[in-house]
Amino acid sequence: MTKDINKRNFDEGTSIKLELFKLYLREWLPVFISKKAKTIEVFDFFAGSGTDVNGNPGSPLIILNEISNQCEKLVQNNIRLKVLFNDLDGDKIDILSENIGEHLKTCSSSSKYDFCTNPNDSCPFEIKLTKEDFKDLFERWYNYFLNSQGVPRMLFIDQYGIKHVSESIFKKLISLRHADFIFFISTSYLKRFKEQPEFLKYLSINEIEFDSSNPYSCHRAVFNYYKSLLASKKYYLGQFSIRKNGNIYGVIFGSGHPLGLKKFLDVAWKLDVHTGETNFDIDNDSVRVGQYSLDFDNDGSANKVKKLVGYELDLLKYLEDGRSNIEIYLFSIENGISIKKTNEILKRLEEQNMLTFGGEARRKGAFYLDFEPEKKITIKIL
Ligand SMILES: C[S@@+](CC[C@H](N)C(=O)[O-])C[C@H]1O[C@@H](n2cnc3c(N)ncnc32)[C@H](O)[C@@H]1O
Repeated sequence: MTKDINKRNFDEGTSIKLELFKLYLREWLPVFISKKAKTIEVFDFFAGSGTDVNGNPGSPLIILNEISNQCEKLVQNNIRLKVLFNDLDGDKIDILSENIGEHLKTCSSSSKYDFCTNPNDSCPFEIKLTKEDFKDLFERWYNYFLNSQGVPRMLFIDQYGIKHVSESIFKKLISLRHADFIFFISTSYLKRFKEQPEFLKYLSINEIEFDSSNPYSCHRAVFNYYKSLLASKKYYLGQFSIRKNGNIYGVIFGSGHPLGLKKFLDVAWKLDVHTGETNFDIDNDSVRVGQYSLDFDNDGSANKVKKLVGYELDLLKYLEDGRSNIEIYLFSIENGISIKKTNEILKRLEEQNMLTFGGEARRKGAFYLDFEPEKKITIKIL
């Protein structure tokens, strides 16, 4: 039986998952505040009680902190921020309700802004609590989502195990235009029991080829499985693997917009400066654990991160025919590489006189990698 996450201290794996979620929310919210959306919605479908046993904030309190940090701008722009917290365990929701009450009391008594003293009149938050099974709840909300596709939404699905984001739920998630999602999955369980009829009911994963030479890369295989479900749909997925107690868990991120994935990768590369995808040494990169090779006869690749070496080779090949900065932006994020990293590689290639440029006049060292670039340029390898 799964141990109750809220009755223990959040372990390192849980903490990094929550950090990833928090930092993404911090990037995501301002996008829609600056666009002056009328309503922004956040759904925490597996909310828990709000904290761990030592009072460290879980997803609901993280959400409240992040939206509270934006409340002045929300009020100025007349934006309603609606949040739904759900958990099947009614006792947890009762504790969460108290935690939320405390948060709002502290928030309003801080008198940070004029409107804080009268939160009932002007507080921009609408908070709803429910105690339902995710499956029923999601089906109901899904119809509402379909009928209000213009509303920006963040959906957090912090399940235990694997079964709640079944193939059919995943397909519903990716059918939504402005709903970014993050879900958590116990990848090791999925790998261990992938032939079991019980699991095959939810996900047809018996075809997944896990890499036996690198068992710790199993979340990459699971990510590729979800990617295969996109078929030809233009949709942007990201992933992050988390190792805890010898097992691998992971996060799958999705957005209908490239900016969503760009921001997810910014956060992922902030948390993992080597590969942007894990809290452990996934590829046996000696540099990652601070060991440097003294083999000076080679090109120094022994001291490089394997994923980046592979990416650079792919990028060089991709640039052989000349590519627009928009194409390179998409190539970078679709390969799970942050735009900052791709900029660094291009800068080095330019310094080595390996690149030639076309299109609008440009500044040296600027590549304008964006989905709507301020200048349109092309870059080709010489
Ligand atoms: C990983 S914990 C969530 C932790 C929470 N997000 C946090 O940061 O503290 C998973 C939660 O899912 C709840 N849960 C289990 N089955 C559920 C279901 N079918 N529908 C909704 N919630 C469920 C559990 O009670 C548990 O609180």
